[in-house]
Amino acid sequence: MQTLLRGKHLISLQEWTKQDIDTALKTSSHLKMLFANNQPHRWLQDKTAFMMFFEQSTRTRNSLEAGITQLGGHAHDLTPDKMQLSHGESAKDTAMVLSRFGHAIAIRNCFYGIGNTYLQDVARWASVPVINLQDDLYHPLQALADLMTIQEKFGDNTSGLNVTISWAYATSHAKPLSVPLSQILLFTRYGMNVTVAAPKEFPLLPDIVNTAESNASSHGGNLRFVNEMDEGFRNAHVVIPKNWGGFAYTEDKDQMLANLSKYRNWICDERRMGIADPRAVYMHALPADRGNEVTDAVIDGPQSVVYDEAENRLHTVKGVIALTMGGRP
Ligand code: CP
Repeated sequence: MQTLLRGKHLISLQEWTKQDIDTALKTSSHLKMLFANNQPHRWLQDKTAFMMFFEQSTRTRNSLEAGITQLGGHAHDLTPDKMQLSHGESAKDTAMVLSRFGHAIAIRNCFYGIGNTYLQDVARWASVPVINLQDDLYHPLQALADLMTIQEKFGDNTSGLNVTISWAYATSHAKPLSVPLSQILLFTRYGMNVTVAAPKEFPLLPDIVNTAESNASSHGGNLRFVNEMDEGFRNAHVVIPKNWGGFAYTEDKDQMLANLSKYRNWICDERRMGIADPRAVYMHALPADRGNEVTDAVIDGPQSVVYDEAENRLHTVKGVIALTMGGRP
């Protein structure tokens, strides 16, 4: 167990040791059991977190707000239009002032080339933990919930588990790279054989891929890339087909849309689930683009664990804030 997480930022799980992450997972499981048994766990009584959302959110916003309420604290739901940053107030001044008022600053800013820089700026000046609610590079709370879900389905020892992270077609919007990037970074530290399937116009970012490869070689895992969805699904125990934007290939929106239109057949359907291992589970961070990323038959079918995965967003964020905001049972 790591007992010294009080005050620690969570921008990317890569900055947390495996011991830190295992402590967060154990704490999350304990909180999940207390929640299931309706046992009070007001470990953050009278503590305040500020949530700044530059984009929409269902799971992240509500898991954090519900989670801190269940822990006895309170979250302020902020958007730029409610704050002076819409008139140009600096990250430093925002961080310094909110640090004087409360106990954590949590931010979602997914704008490509901007989000992570903004979070790093706030973290530099904040004297309370800064929690990443998703930026352009990382979504640590999603990756942590995904790892918890995989361990619940396959056991804590995930060495040798075949996990496929596949690009999928979507029309809803060009989704950030932060979910697949966080997953390849984290899963390779847990000995998994990670396959990324994606068309060549939708690559992941080379620097982060290099770090994930280094994680894999340090932890006995594997990271490979294929350009065919079917090939990616072969023998997979976990499939995570999801859209991401082609930001790492081109930032020209028209070109990205033209590239997207070439890959309408990258959908997770029952035929493709049949290529995976018979025990395979289907995961998705949600929101899913039904009919494009995945068929209803798969997402509503027996192999889908998407609602367990979404529920674990609540338990894992509670684990993270309980540890970093200094709660004591
Ligand atoms: N998976 C996820 O982060 O969902 P929201 O965008 O609804 O928060």
